[in-house]
Amino acid sequence: MTERFGTAALRDELPARLGYTLPAVVAPMFLVSSAAMVEAACKAGAVAAYPSLNARTSAGFNEVLDRLDRNLEGANGAGYAVNLVTHRSNPRFAEDLEICAAHRVPLIITALGSPAPAVDAVHAYGGLVFADVNSPRLARKAAAAGADGLILVCSGAGGHTGTMTPFAFVDEVRRFFDGPVIVAGGISSGAGIHGALALGADLAYMGTRFLAARESDAVAGFKQMVAECSFDDILCTDAITGALANKLRPSIVAAGIDPDSLQSGKAFDLSALEGSVNTWKDLWSAGHGLGAVTGSEPVGEIIATLKDEFAAATRRTRRWTAAA
Ligand SMILES: Cc1cc2nc3c(=O)[nH]c(=O)nc-3n(C[C@H](O)[C@H](O)[C@H](O)COP(=O)(O)O)c2cc1C
Repeated sequence: MTERFGTAALRDELPARLGYTLPAVVAPMFLVSSAAMVEAACKAGAVAAYPSLNARTSAGFNEVLDRLDRNLEGANGAGYAVNLVTHRSNPRFAEDLEICAAHRVPLIITALGSPAPAVDAVHAYGGLVFADVNSPRLARKAAAAGADGLILVCSGAGGHTGTMTPFAFVDEVRRFFDGPVIVAGGISSGAGIHGALALGADLAYMGTRFLAARESDAVAGFKQMVAECSFDDILCTDAITGALANKLRPSIVAAGIDPDSLQSGKAFDLSALEGSVNTWKDLWSAGHGLGAVTGSEPVGEIIATLKDEFAAATRRTRRWTAAA
């Protein structure tokens, strides 16, 4: 018999435990997620994640959490999450984890490495650890390492992307995991959130839909490019960081690189452009769902729209559940 992981009861407890009224997480985005964005999303009823490395120092990160605790207290909104890079190349991991423990951050999202280094410390103060994974193999490893929930990064995601369709990925993971599952990749509408739940997930994970939001820290040119571009402008390549990522072609051109000259499968040598091109600062990333972004709206309005779309999608499918 296959070994099973995860706690089924946690799926039922999650909405009350995290206090969300829309089953969605505003995903962590390097150099984009701001304290204001997280605060606005939580107040509007969605969980929102802050990447600890978006604060330049651990002291600055501590100040962000102080602000979130202060401003969200009594707001009757959703809880916030922190995104920690667990890879050994992150020198701030231990210090930032301690800060999360001191603030009793309800949800820690681990990325670019195993959740194992975070699990004991987070469980000790009663928090949850969800691991970001992009294959069933990594999902099983993360579950075995003690992750309470899994974030399945599927094809079409902004930033580093997965390659698997969510239809197969959720099914695959449900064969061995009973705990909460979040789906990521190209979800930019309330219908998409509804679809993720229909697949057997508990929440949808959305980055691109919030890239150009008023509270986003993305530079003006990035926000404008996301609003003007469509799926046809996306290049999925591993030539930039060594891992597959969805990038906006016009940002690659603006950096003086010919997108069609990038060689898949081998590390792209940026040394000739050193000092002028920064992988994250200059080569902008967005997912397949960027068509939904047409301008810079306040986070609260985006979430209100998503709630309406989610309710409409629920009504559309009701005739089939009623007939069953
Ligand atoms: C500009 C950008 C920066 C990102 N930075 C991070 C990050 O720092 N940490 C992380 O775990 N994921 C990061 N991601 C991935 C998102 O958290 C999430 O998986 C993704 O946005 C979901 O797909 P979607 O953009 O199609 O909604 C980033 C995505 C984008 C678009």
